[in-house]
Amino acid sequence: MKKFIVIAAVVLLSSCSAKLLLPTQSDAERGSAMFKGLTIDELNKGKDVFDKKCTQCHGHKRPTSWTEIQWRRIIPVMAEKAYKSKKVQISPTEQEQVLRYVVTMGQHSKKN
Ligand code: HEC
Repeated sequence: MKKFIVIAAVVLLSSCSAKLLLPTQSDAERGSAMFKGLTIDELNKGKDVFDKKCTQCHGHKRPTSWTEIQWRRIIPVMAEKAYKSKKVQISPTEQEQVLRYVVTMGQHSKKN
């Protein structure tokens, strides 16, 4: 029985971490230290693009696995790939929203 609970907990935890974090007011506040005037709405837009357009070729990449500098380099490359091979357009505004989402949420996970 104990073993079952442990396994169930592990399964539950790992399925949670695969889901994208929903931005909260405190994320927006923390993120606005880097991105002036950042709002939850903007973070949600970034999440949406990340969720829909950035998963066409691979799963969700972890926000915590790359630094802001790396994300700034990776996102435009990915946007170009998306257009070239899937005809999916990720506009400069959307790229910025994704950047803000991953950088802000990446810090969220590090603190927890
Ligand atoms: C047209 C297909 C395609 C789309 C769309 C796409 N990617 Fe990728 N991405 C790849 C491929 C191929 C790789 C290299 C193999 C891998 O790591 O899965 C990659 C790798 C990555 C990596 C790892 C980079 C590294 O240096 O290790 C990250 C992070 C990433 N993508 C993020 C994104 C984000 C964010 C978006 C949306 C803006 C996106 N991808 C959209 C194809 C795509």
